[in-house]
Parts: sequence; C-alpha cells; structure tokens
Amino acid sequence: MKAVVVIVSDRRSKGEAKDETAPRLAALLAAAGFELLPVIIVPDERDAIAAALRDAAARCELVVSSGGTGIGPRDVTPEATRDVLDKEIPGFGEAMRAVSRSKTPFADLSRATAGTCGSAMVVNLPGSPKGAEECLGAVLPPVMHGLKSLAGAVKDCQVEVARELRTPRA
Ligand code: MTE
Repeated sequence: MKAVVVIVSDRRSKGEAKDETAPRLAALLAAAGFELLPVIIVPDERDAIAAALRDAAARCELVVSSGGTGIGPRDVTPEATRDVLDKEIPGFGEAMRAVSRSKTPFADLSRATAGTCGSAMVVNLPGSPKGAEECLGAVLPPVMHGLKSLAGAVKDCQVEVARELRTPRA
C-alpha cells in the first residue's frame, strides 16, 4: 500500500522553515509496510489543502496530514479535510487526543479528524514533529484494519482482527 505525507504550513511552503515532521512520519509508515510517495507541502489555505488531500487520496491508500489542526487564525486543516471526506471517523481524533493528554496539557487544542476520501483514508495530525509521531502511533492499528475494510477485503472482522493484532504489518 502507498502513503503520502502532506505538510500544512505557511512557512514551510515558502521555504522559510525546515520540515522535520515528514521524515519521522515516513519512517513510521515505512515500518508499517507502506511505500512512501513524495511529500507534499501546502500553505494553510483551505482550498489548497483540500486540493492536495483529494489529489493525494487518488494516488494512494493513506494520506497523513500534519499541521493546521489548532485554533490559530490560519488553522483550517480539519475544515479542509471535511471538505473532501466521504465518511468522517471521529474516533481517530478522539484517540489521538486521549493519547496526547498523557504527553502534553495542550493536547485538546488539536481539532484533528480523519475519514475516507474515495478509496483512501485521510488522517490529520498536529504539526509538532513529536506530536505528529505520537498521534500517528495512536491510530496506526485501526488505520491498517480500516484500510482493509474500506477496500472491502474484510469478510470476517473477528478473524481479521485476531490475525492483525498478532501481525500488525500492512
Ligand atoms: N499533541 C501531541 N501529542 N503533542 C503535541 O506537542 N501540541 C498541541 C496539540 N496536540 C501537541 C499535541 C498544540 S500546542 C496545539 S496548538 C495543537 O496540537 C494544534 O497543533 P497544530 O495547529 O500544529 O496542528
């Protein structure tokens, strides 16, 4: 399966700051068995983010965005994500915030969400490299099962779940 990392950041899109998040996410995704397509960097613009997510979702199974999930004036990633989702998966955001609460008192400032876009899954993560890594780790097991389910490849959920929990690779 293929994955794309989308970095959402005004400064990184202009080359004013170096991205340190994508390599960390790529390492986690590669360890889970994904082939990584080139990283996309977009500014915090709702239409640009939605277009990038839609384009990436047409080319891979998993799209992971990082940044723009907070409440700053320019933070619109969850809104742009909902623009492209067919089915929202609110539990992913809840799971990420639940895990993050044990790491930072600011966890609940992330409004990250997730869902399906065509035959792909889209997952928002916060912008900090460490936070993004922690949050991706929190949802990777259900992402793997969800991708099989989305592809219509799950006949017996209980059998699949038992198998996946023994071998959590793609
Ligand atoms: N979650 C984790 N695990 N680690 C973090 O460092 N940062 C928080 C929150 N969630 C953080 C986190 C902070 S400070 C903010 S403002 C929000 O994510 C939104 O971040 P974003 O706008 O960069 O997406």
